[in-house]
Amino acid sequence: MSGELTFAPTARRHYSDSAVIGVERALRRGRLSVVFGRQTMAFENDFARYIGAKYAVAVSSGSTGLDLALQCVGVSLGDEVVVAGFTFPGTINAVVRNLGIVRFADIDPDTWNLSATTVEPVISNKTKAIVVSHLFGAPASMSGLVDLAHAHGVQLIEDCAQALGATIDERLVGTFGDIAVYSFNEIKNMSTGEGGIVVVKTADLAERCRLLRLYAMSGGELLDVGHKCTMTELEAAVGRAQLAELPTQNKLRSELGTRLASRLEVGTRLVPQRVPYGGTHAYSRFVFMVADGDDSADLSKRLEIKGFYARKVYPSPIYHHTLFRDWATGNPRPGLASGYRRVYASNPIWEEYRNLDLEMCEKIARTHLGFVVTESSTISDADNFADALEGMVPA
Ligand SMILES: Cc1ncc(COP(=O)(O)O)c(C=O)c1O
Repeated sequence: MSGELTFAPTARRHYSDSAVIGVERALRRGRLSVVFGRQTMAFENDFARYIGAKYAVAVSSGSTGLDLALQCVGVSLGDEVVVAGFTFPGTINAVVRNLGIVRFADIDPDTWNLSATTVEPVISNKTKAIVVSHLFGAPASMSGLVDLAHAHGVQLIEDCAQALGATIDERLVGTFGDIAVYSFNEIKNMSTGEGGIVVVKTADLAERCRLLRLYAMSGGELLDVGHKCTMTELEAAVGRAQLAELPTQNKLRSELGTRLASRLEVGTRLVPQRVPYGGTHAYSRFVFMVADGDDSADLSKRLEIKGFYARKVYPSPIYHHTLFRDWATGNPRPGLASGYRRVYASNPIWEEYRNLDLEMCEKIARTHLGFVVTESSTISDADNFADALEGMVPA
């Protein structure tokens, strides 16, 4: 049923003729691996140029990109990594796989992202890194976070998976931190089907990323604990074509998102996610909050009856997810989750997770609704949606 709803996430993606030609060329050349091909390197150069960064290393997903990024900056046993309590769970996997300790910080009431104010209370002498996700496409307030990271000598990693093209202080997100990670899964602002990229500032980090991406082997010698998370030439060919279309696609997203946000601000008592002063939203998703006390599930149902899709993206803060509950009760699943719990058996974090109640994370989880903005979403869809909401939750 939901396939027929406006803004349902079932819309098919359109891949251009140049993507098709690029894929065919790679196939006919008979070289689909990065080891032998040229597309991946060309895509990395195109992407670095677009971001205004020096080095980009293409990988198999945003998740592996985060994993590599944390390994590259040296996160390991006993190191704490600060992440938002309300974000995509992939960040947690990356920290735990690197044997780091997740420390949750609250989010800003307007941008719903980490800020210097929310992170500072969680910084300790064990903090190794902060991972800031620019959630749903809204940039975090980066200048304060950069200053905080410098002041404490910690690494700043930007998770730009949902925010390719968002800006703050006239710079693209991804250019502030030590490392930035992007995802090209199929609901992102550009897609390679699956895929991701890691953007770094120094030649040393780029070299380390490339080594870890391909087994951590060099000259037949195993040098480190590596991954195999290369992007294929087919994906890179699609990426080059998608990147060329990105500015046009992002302009449409921005028109739709800013128009809908301003209509909700004026015509309803809903609160759209806000962008810090001087920033621009990449609108991978359009997300808004119902007034506390209003019933978001009921509104979602009423919208569905009118033909619109709006659901929760993350129904609860991550620290309430099963993994954390299982850790708290001492009963995690076998394998890494169990081993990790044993390694940190005497650490006070388990008690901290059990009692965690971050005010804004809880509030946003309770009150938000949203949808993925797709390339087929139109301004008139946005207007119809705003008309419906003005009738249901007037200002
Ligand atoms: C904020 C965020 N970070 C990381 C990821 C992981 O990206 P991927 O699906 O490419 O592994 C996602 C995926 O949706 C995401 O939304």
